[in-house]
Amino acid sequence: MSATASLKRLMPSDILALKGKAPVVVLTVYTTPVARLADPACDVLLVGDSVGMVLHGLPSTLGVTMEMMILHGRAVMRGADRALVAIDMPFGSYEEGPEQAFRNAARLMAETGAGAVKLEGGVHMAETIAFLVARGIPVMAHIGLTPQSVNTLGGYKVQGRGADGDRLKADALAVTEAGAFSVVLEKVPAELAGEISAMIAIPTIGIGAGVDCDGQVLVIDDMLGLFTDFRPKFVKRYAELGRTAAEAVAAYAAEVRSRAFPAPEYSFFDEVKK
Ligand code: KIV
Repeated sequence: MSATASLKRLMPSDILALKGKAPVVVLTVYTTPVARLADPACDVLLVGDSVGMVLHGLPSTLGVTMEMMILHGRAVMRGADRALVAIDMPFGSYEEGPEQAFRNAARLMAETGAGAVKLEGGVHMAETIAFLVARGIPVMAHIGLTPQSVNTLGGYKVQGRGADGDRLKADALAVTEAGAFSVVLEKVPAELAGEISAMIAIPTIGIGAGVDCDGQVLVIDDMLGLFTDFRPKFVKRYAELGRTAAEAVAAYAAEVRSRAFPAPEYSFFDEVKK
């Protein structure tokens, strides 16, 4: 789908229709200029709550607020014409129950224009997902390593190894039956992710879940080499923009100190005095 240019914005039903046909290309984005550059190549732009760690320096996603998501969601929508924009529901905005989730999901969609929300959780979130979908809110589910539960999961560990795989299969089936249009599988053994992808009717979007998922997602600042605090094993760096930017800043600082910048071509002169 990402290879076939179209002026129409993709809908959740278009993403669902890619199952078994073409891999779904997803990247997180948080700002207008980055949305502009990612939009032509991606099927889904995810305004992830990773924005808290990547752009705001928070230690985890737990401190991300509705206001932060709305601000970044609006910015991304200004830069995206073609890809479906999905927006994360932040920690504490949906876990109380379906009514709280609906109120906040509706606010996220109404105030940003995003076409779908993402929330974390499997079996225990199925009722909430069904409630949202029945009321017009497309939901991307997220199972496996769910970073908002880092404190109960005991860290950012691989999920579903060995017998624990059955728990993730139950989660995948539950979110599918609840009506999610896709599901993120984070940090799951590749064999299990392949089995789940073959078992359910909606696209699985892997991050650290191997090549047999129906699509892939990465955090854009990770793959561009802009976020360098730590690097999970599943991150492939497609560029080293952080290094390039640091070199540019150092070159600028040296030229300011040596007065090489601004050279005449970057300066204005008084024509009258010529
Ligand atoms: O917040 C995020 O960026 C995410 C992706 C890693 C899937 O949830």
